[in-house]
Amino acid sequence: MDLEGKVALVTGAARGIGRAIAIGLAHAGCDVAVADIAQNQDGITVYPLGSDAELAVTAGQVRKLGRGCTAIQADVTKPADVEQMMQTIEQRLGGLDILVANAGIIMAGPVASMSEAEWDRIFSVNVKGVFLCARAAIPRLVARGGGRIVNVASVAGKTGRAGLAGYCASKAAVISMTQSMAEELGPMKIAVNAICPGYLKTAMFTQVLNPLLARLYHVPEDEVFERFVQRQTFLGRGQTPEDIAEATIYLCRAENVTGIALTVAGGGEVH
Ligand code: NAI
Repeated sequence: MDLEGKVALVTGAARGIGRAIAIGLAHAGCDVAVADIAQNQDGITVYPLGSDAELAVTAGQVRKLGRGCTAIQADVTKPADVEQMMQTIEQRLGGLDILVANAGIIMAGPVASMSEAEWDRIFSVNVKGVFLCARAAIPRLVARGGGRIVNVASVAGKTGRAGLAGYCASKAAVISMTQSMAEELGPMKIAVNAICPGYLKTAMFTQVLNPLLARLYHVPEDEVFERFVQRQTFLGRGQTPEDIAEATIYLCRAENVTGIALTVAGGGEVH
């Protein structure tokens, strides 16, 4: 698909991977709606989420590239927020061709001590959020004659890990939903793919996984990321948000790829 003049929505775009995808799509010629919960906390997640100031920075960077942009505060777990988000995009950018469902959270800890509220929240954001965004986007993509959905899953959705049962299960669900939607939406010329990022030094890694891995491997927290990726990946390096943006743009351009879960992990997960 030629991306020039297309309209894309990126959720979880205040920072990290979502910000890089939004900027990458703008570089590729898209007008971009950037959405995020943008209120630092949701009452359950134990690290700070993206802020409205960070979302404004993302929007500013998209506009600097000469593309249309609208910044929207929306919680992807709330159907009314999601519907309002879609209506705002139609009003301000004229329609929708690409959905990048990137918003996600992580919770770490053993199953035996995970609270029901933590389990529910992780599934609410990572799984229900993807469903609600797709449900609202599909009629809009159909109205434009087709489009793309890219769901940001994780290598954690391909192999389960101790201390991450809720997160891994939620990302496995995203991969499965991607396959179902790819078959369902193929006749409508909508390609649906997942991306499985590997290991990135964004908030969710530094705030949650670094302490977990440091305890597991008895390594100082400020050294654990580099040591982990050297051991875990063939290429001996972590990934960057720009690596994930590059893969997202490939999946948006690709004419004949649907239903896959594309791993971008430097060889950290080869299935
Ligand atoms: P991040 O925490 O920097 O960004 C996630 C964004 O999602 C934040 O701006 C946050 O405010 C937003 N968000 C959270 N709950 C939301 C909600 N209910 N509604 C709307 N927005 C919400 O983390 P990062 O690393 O950029 O994560 C992006 C995606 O990549 C996530 O789906 C994550 O699971 C996935 N991922 C990240 C990896 C990593 O190593 N950092 C590896 C594999 C996957």
